[in-house]
Amino acid sequence: MPDRYDLPTGFRWGAATAAYQIEGAVTEDGRGPSVWDVFAARPGTVRDGHTGAVACDHYHRYPEDIALMKNLGLDGYRFSIAWPRVLPTGSGPVNPAGLAFYDRLVDALLDAGITPLPTLFHWDLPQALEDGGGWLNRDTAHHFADYAAIVTDRLGDRVPAWITLNEPFVHTVFGYALGTHAPGRTLMLEALPAAHHQLLAHGLAASVLHDRGLEVMLSNNLTPVEPATSSDADLAAAQAYDALHNRLFTDPVLLGRYPDLSALGVPDDLYGAIHPGDTDLIAAPGLDGLGLNFYNPTRIAAPTEPGLPFDFVDIPDVPHTAFGWPVVPDALRQLLLSLRDTYGKTLPPITITENGCSVTESTTPDQPRIDFMSAHLDALAAATAEGIDIRGYYTWSLLDNYEWAEGYHQRFGLVHVDFATQRRTPRASYAWYRDLIAAHRVLRAR
Ligand code: FCB
Repeated sequence: MPDRYDLPTGFRWGAATAAYQIEGAVTEDGRGPSVWDVFAARPGTVRDGHTGAVACDHYHRYPEDIALMKNLGLDGYRFSIAWPRVLPTGSGPVNPAGLAFYDRLVDALLDAGITPLPTLFHWDLPQALEDGGGWLNRDTAHHFADYAAIVTDRLGDRVPAWITLNEPFVHTVFGYALGTHAPGRTLMLEALPAAHHQLLAHGLAASVLHDRGLEVMLSNNLTPVEPATSSDADLAAAQAYDALHNRLFTDPVLLGRYPDLSALGVPDDLYGAIHPGDTDLIAAPGLDGLGLNFYNPTRIAAPTEPGLPFDFVDIPDVPHTAFGWPVVPDALRQLLLSLRDTYGKTLPPITITENGCSVTESTTPDQPRIDFMSAHLDALAAATAEGIDIRGYYTWSLLDNYEWAEGYHQRFGLVHVDFATQRRTPRASYAWYRDLIAAHRVLRAR
């Protein structure tokens, strides 16, 4: 059986974070408010009322955090750029101090020998754009392309590859359908125009980036979907869920068409959002790499009550993370093989842009995290041996950080953060990852 040490020569080792989850400094140097500032301030939205106002104070402590990355031996670091730092109202005037922060960050990473991999949008939409309808408004896609041009004009000389969006599925469903994330809308399936406008934003920005000679990726949260039983009803429910979670966000980009969502009662034009020519705008620029964020598989049954045409069923008899997510590493291998089955030659090289788990703070050492990462990396090695082109692995996350609606309660970091003092303490998983990266380099250099 191949294992993680068999991952190919040149495989990129990385770690990932996102702006609102680590930066803090939300009112400094001209940053405008984002939907997350406004949402988190509303009582009852986030566990214990936590906000990202300070988070890991990375805005000030980035040199210390880059030293931690360098000591790990990372090839690459995935972070996100806060749109409201660069354009406080989303469109309109540029905030030079905001751009200057990312300029310093990029230079410091390059000095440490680490390739920056920025994401342009990781859920922190400028509140001014939300006030105009947010992702329900088609104009937001065009504002995003303008923002992409501004950022890449400044950083594109030093940053070769970019991720447009992070997990448009999660942002659409939690942010616009269920309201558990910012901006807190509860539109259920009528949230789907927000999905289309994000994909359109991806396509428009991808053209901007390609015009500048830059590589483009999209990071999707994908999950293998299994029916709870082999009954026709469960199979149909699983298929409907797969179309919504996976295919809706990948088919338009790789195949130039939307999947059939009629089982969900969704009209073909996604409630009028899709205009003629849009699918070309989304697919034509092409994708240089697919970013895959993987956490767990999903088990689906036919609904027991009227409402959505699926029920979520737990996967028993497997470990669960502190967040309650089932741990099934081989599901990652199966997912990769099914992507090849579905997309064939149109499937670009894959980079794992997130994978990791939250561990209860009192678990010392954090052996569950080491077990999680090693088993998922072994699954990647197995998929590679079966011919899947996987270029790198960015673990979620470098630091404990602000876990959205869970506030500071879920700890995903290789490095423990004491949020009262901002003290960083590398965990056992940090040393394990550092040693793995070093050993892999030595073995593959032979
Ligand atoms: C993903 C998000 C990331 C983080 C992890 C745990 O869905 O992209 O920001 O919250 O989950």
